[in-house]
Amino acid sequence: MTQTLTLPRPDDWHLHLRDGAVLRAVLPETARHFARAIIMPNLVPPVVTSGDAAAYRDRILAALPTGMDFTPLMTLYLTEQTDPDDVAHAHASGLITAVKLYPAGATTNSTSGVRDFDKVRAVLDRMAEIGLPLCVHGEVTDAEIDIFDREAVFIDRVLDPLRRATPGLRVIMEHTTTRDGVEYVKANDSGLAATITTHHLIINRNDILAGGIRPHYYCLPVAKREEHRLALREAATSGDPRFFLGTDSAPHTDPNKESACGCAGCFTATNTLSILAETFEQEGALAHLEGFVSRNGPGFYGLPVNSETLTLTRGAPITYPATIDTEDGPITLFDPKMPLHWRVD
Ligand code: NCD
Ligand code: ZN
Repeated sequence: MTQTLTLPRPDDWHLHLRDGAVLRAVLPETARHFARAIIMPNLVPPVVTSGDAAAYRDRILAALPTGMDFTPLMTLYLTEQTDPDDVAHAHASGLITAVKLYPAGATTNSTSGVRDFDKVRAVLDRMAEIGLPLCVHGEVTDAEIDIFDREAVFIDRVLDPLRRATPGLRVIMEHTTTRDGVEYVKANDSGLAATITTHHLIINRNDILAGGIRPHYYCLPVAKREEHRLALREAATSGDPRFFLGTDSAPHTDPNKESACGCAGCFTATNTLSILAETFEQEGALAHLEGFVSRNGPGFYGLPVNSETLTLTRGAPITYPATIDTEDGPITLFDPKMPLHWRVD
């Protein structure tokens, strides 16, 4: 008997689309399956003002192939110069859905991020007042903190104090990679959620480093020990509405990944739903896939669940291309190193 699974069309609550040739190549990979996505603003230069966000949204919509239905949910990149009025205006007009906090230097294109959190206090207070969520890249950047500890230290030193200082601020701890992150979210009742990526459910740090260095598994926050991967799998498949999908699909061309100083990011837009269905099936939790990909995100953001549906069918293992081609060069698709039986119809 064929097994099928029909869900409200999923959304991706953390996505990098880039610009230009890469945007044109990767956008259809997401739009084919996902109705909406939170669009990361870490372009060069970053999307910092409402004017930048409007222009970027127009470029995304112009790159969308005819006949595809996709809504980009725009974000602003928080800097120490961000104007609270500009943010409030962009929110009121429906242009933006969230603001993104990058600690300066934490990841790809984050040099314009925040160094002194007092300088963004007025923006955060205003966001709490108007109910605009903050998406947080949760890693400290101090050179003396081991890269594998940066998320846990961020929770103690930055995230928890920031949340206490800004009551009512809705926060998404993005791409959480640790048991510490999962436990922090579970211990807090309201106004806090976490996204989990596809790849962090699949790989641990051995996949990056054991038996040769594998740049296509390098992303930030970096994958941690196996116990953390297991905590993420438990959280994602548990049905807890505070956890939802943010793929963090982050395309970089192969020459930029396979380099002496390779870029961080895994490109997962194309095969994410097949990987997630396989993962939830392995955990005996297929019934919770719908919450993770289609319901929990809109629930936290206060948006409607999509009314269209998407169907997954289980059958013989399917193959995805190893790379997608762009005018800037090939982009390698994340390899989950397991057969994938679920295809999107
Ligand atoms: C992202 C990118 O390439 O923009 N990279 C990544 O490894 N996830 C930035 C980010 O989300 O940290
Ligand atoms: Zn990201």
